[in-house]
Amino acid sequence: DLSGIPRTRVPDASLSLLRDGYVFISSTCDRLQTDVFRTRLMLKRAFCVRGAGAAELFYGSGLFSRKDAMPPTVVHLLQDYGSVQMLDGHAHAERKRLFLALLEADGIRDFTATLAEVWEARAARIAAGERIELYTELNRMLTEAALRWLGLPATQNQVRLRSQELSAMVDHAGTTGPHNAWARMIRRRSERWAAQVIALIRSGDLTPRPGRPADLIARHTEEGRPLSTEVAAVELLNVVRPIVANARFVVFAALALWQHPQWRQEFARGDLSRLEPFVQEVRRFYPFFPLIGGRSVRPFTWRGYAFPEQSWVLLDLYGTNHDPRSWSEPGSFRPERFVDREPTAYDLVPQGGGPYETGHRCPGERLTIATVETMVRLLSLADYTVPAQDLTYTMRAMPALPRSGLIVSGGSR
Ligand code: HEM
Repeated sequence: DLSGIPRTRVPDASLSLLRDGYVFISSTCDRLQTDVFRTRLMLKRAFCVRGAGAAELFYGSGLFSRKDAMPPTVVHLLQDYGSVQMLDGHAHAERKRLFLALLEADGIRDFTATLAEVWEARAARIAAGERIELYTELNRMLTEAALRWLGLPATQNQVRLRSQELSAMVDHAGTTGPHNAWARMIRRRSERWAAQVIALIRSGDLTPRPGRPADLIARHTEEGRPLSTEVAAVELLNVVRPIVANARFVVFAALALWQHPQWRQEFARGDLSRLEPFVQEVRRFYPFFPLIGGRSVRPFTWRGYAFPEQSWVLLDLYGTNHDPRSWSEPGSFRPERFVDREPTAYDLVPQGGGPYETGHRCPGERLTIATVETMVRLLSLADYTVPAQDLTYTMRAMPALPRSGLIVSGGSR
């Protein structure tokens, strides 16, 4: 009996989700004075939940599978079928091992060192007076750094093609119709490239240094068997695509440095003691991944309500990062809040929550933090200004980004 669970006035809230974007779940929760409500989205019954308690239910209970939990328009452009995210239990743990191995501290250090090298050439161009759109440039830089770090050829042509494809996947993950179809067509080129890379490594025609991530993916075995070419290709893309997606967090970090210049001055002086709090606040404050869906593998009760097996539950990531019960003045950008307070596994969830090694929490979180830290440090040292432009972003289009893409130009700060 679902009758006790608060529900939306309209029978199907798909249009409200489109209209309200990132704040759809939390504004509905506020109006109904609840952390859970039921509705229909795309005609299917959905339970929307928010807050650290809801994140704990979602990530701490082992109750939720990702099978049949997100629309195919999203799944095809992001993790894809056959990926680690679609697995459960033992199979999931086996695959997750691969990601955790790639993303250990040494690997992260290698990546950020490569990124810093890639940045040098850009910094010189900016210092020479060139105007650069940071978002596009970061997509290219992160693609180049990712290919080199993986152990793959990073020619200019390769970087241009791959960065276009990889950014299109993320830019259009929240769309439907022709835009989404276009991005899926573009993605198929990436899939062909990734499958070819795996095949070439396996045949010995491409030889990344042993231990490089591309080599580890090509050679990863489960129950003694290597992954199929298709699945290995999907997981290769599941490493490069989100690395490139970090361009969005870096653009928002650059926006924060511009709008709160005391932080840029502090980092430029070489005082990096509050760099991590700054980056955590970037991940908390700015909108990226709005929500994540799961399907319950058995019936459960929460907050006194009974939910049936196969319940489709949508956890509000953005709303949880802005929940005033966890964050005072959630609408203010205040890195200080992280100076003497570590986030818990469930209150700061821009990349999912729960334990790092098990469950579906993002294995790329530490690499993301290190990437944004590296770029914030380098940007603070660089000599550039932000000319007049439209720096606003809408909370409707998901994922969000400042409209101008953040143009910087050389010259005095
Ligand atoms: C999972 C967001 C960066 C690889 C997730 C999840 C979120 C997320 C919300 C949880 C999905 C769920 O609960 O089902 C982000 C954001 C990033 C980012 C906003 C910033 C750019 C990365 C990076 C990598 C990565 C850099 C790899 C290098 C993955 C993988 C999963 C995942 C493989 C699936 C894990 C699993 O199902 O066990 N990410 N991520 N992500 N992320 Fe990230």
